[in-house]
Amino acid sequence: MGTVETTKRYIANTYARTPLALTHGKGSLLYDEEGKEYIDLGSGIAVNIFGVADPQWEAAVCEQAGKIQHCSNYYYTQPQAKLAELLCEKSGLSDVFFSNSGAEANECAIKAARKYSSDKYGPGRFRIITLVNSFHGRTMATLTATGQEALHVHFGPFLEGFAYVPANDIGALQAEVAKGGVCAIMMEMVQGEGGVQPLADDYVQAAAKICREQDILLIADEVQCGNGRTGKFFAYMHHPGVEPDIVSTAKALAGGLPMGATLFGPRTKDVLTPGTHGSTYGGNPVCAAAGVSVISRIDDKLLAEVTEKGLHLKARLENAPGVQSVAGLGLMIGIKTDKDVKDVIAQCREKGLLVLSAKDKVRLLPALNIPMELLDKGIDILLEVLAQ
Ligand SMILES: Cc1ncc(COP(=O)(O)O)c(C=O)c1O
Repeated sequence: MGTVETTKRYIANTYARTPLALTHGKGSLLYDEEGKEYIDLGSGIAVNIFGVADPQWEAAVCEQAGKIQHCSNYYYTQPQAKLAELLCEKSGLSDVFFSNSGAEANECAIKAARKYSSDKYGPGRFRIITLVNSFHGRTMATLTATGQEALHVHFGPFLEGFAYVPANDIGALQAEVAKGGVCAIMMEMVQGEGGVQPLADDYVQAAAKICREQDILLIADEVQCGNGRTGKFFAYMHHPGVEPDIVSTAKALAGGLPMGATLFGPRTKDVLTPGTHGSTYGGNPVCAAAGVSVISRIDDKLLAEVTEKGLHLKARLENAPGVQSVAGLGLMIGIKTDKDVKDVIAQCREKGLLVLSAKDKVRLLPALNIPMELLDKGIDILLEVLAQ
C-alpha cells in the first residue's frame, strides 16, 4: 500500500486530508512523492515560520539533539532558560510556563486564571468569557473555551463556567461580565480558525479597560497570530496600551517542533507554584533550542518585512476577479471568494500551490521569510484560479 492508503487504513480518520504525501522541501517549496513541486502558502498552519529545512533552525535542532534530547523538569537546561528570557524580553511579560501545544498553553492559562481568582477571592469566581467563533484547542477545557457550537456536538458535558459573546460587541461583553463571577476574558486578537478576523481596536481597548477595572484577567491566545505572524511580535501589540495578564502561544514558537508557552504578566507571575502545574516534555531542550533559533530572529527588520509582504498580498488580492473581500493582518490573510473554498484549494494544488481554508475563506499563512518573487508566483496562481 502507498502512503495515502496505509494512512487511511491505520490512522484514525480525524482529518479531512488532501490526497498529497509530502516528502521534503526547502524554504517555501515542498515536494510530493512523485517529485512534484508546490509553493507553500500555509507553512503547516503557521508553524514553519522560516519554511522547511531552514539551515539555522536545522543546525540548532541537530546540535541540541547531539547534546541532550530530554531531561526532566527537576533539572535546569540552558535552551529552556534562554528561550524564556528571550520571550520575556520581546514581550515585556514576566515569566513563562512551557508545554507542548497550543491547547496545553491554553489549559495552563485557564488553570492559572482560576487559581489567581481563587487565591485572591476564594472559591466561586471562576467564569471565563470567550468569543463566538474563537478556537482555543481540542482538549476538554480548551474545547469548552472554543466558541463554536459545531465543535461541541457529541462531547458534553463540558466544563462549568464558560460563556461566549460575539466579537466586537462591547455591550454583550459588559452584560456577560455584569452577571458576576468572571475571572478572565480570553480572546485571539486575530481569530484564525474562525475566519481570519482581526478584532477592532476600540473593542480590545474597552475589554482591556473592563479587565483592569474589575481585576479580571485578560488572556491573549497568540497560538496562531503570535510570533511575528501579524507584523508585531504578538498581535495584541497592535493595540496600544493593551497588556494582557496571560499570553498563550505555540505553533511557530519552535518552528516545527511541538512546543507551547504560557506567559504571565506582573499580576499573574507568581500564581503557579510547585505542584500546581507541570509537563513531562514541556520545555524539552531540543524544542527549546529550536525556539531560541526562531524567536531570536524575530526582530524589527523581519516584522517590517512581514508588514510589507502582507500589504502587498492584500493590494494584489483586493478587488481582483473572484475575490469578495480580504481580511487579516500581516501574513495572516483570509479571502472570501466567489468560488467554493474546497474547489479553490484543489485547483491551486493541481497548479502547484498549497493554500488553506478557515470557515468559508481561503487562508494564507506563508512562511515569514518567503521571498517576494515566490510569494508573487503563488498569488499569480491563486488569482488565476479565482478568476476562472
Ligand atoms: C488560536 C489557537 N489556539 C489554540 C490552538 C490549538 O493549538 P494546538 O493544535 O497546537 O493544540 C490553535 C490551533 O489551531 C489556534 O489556532
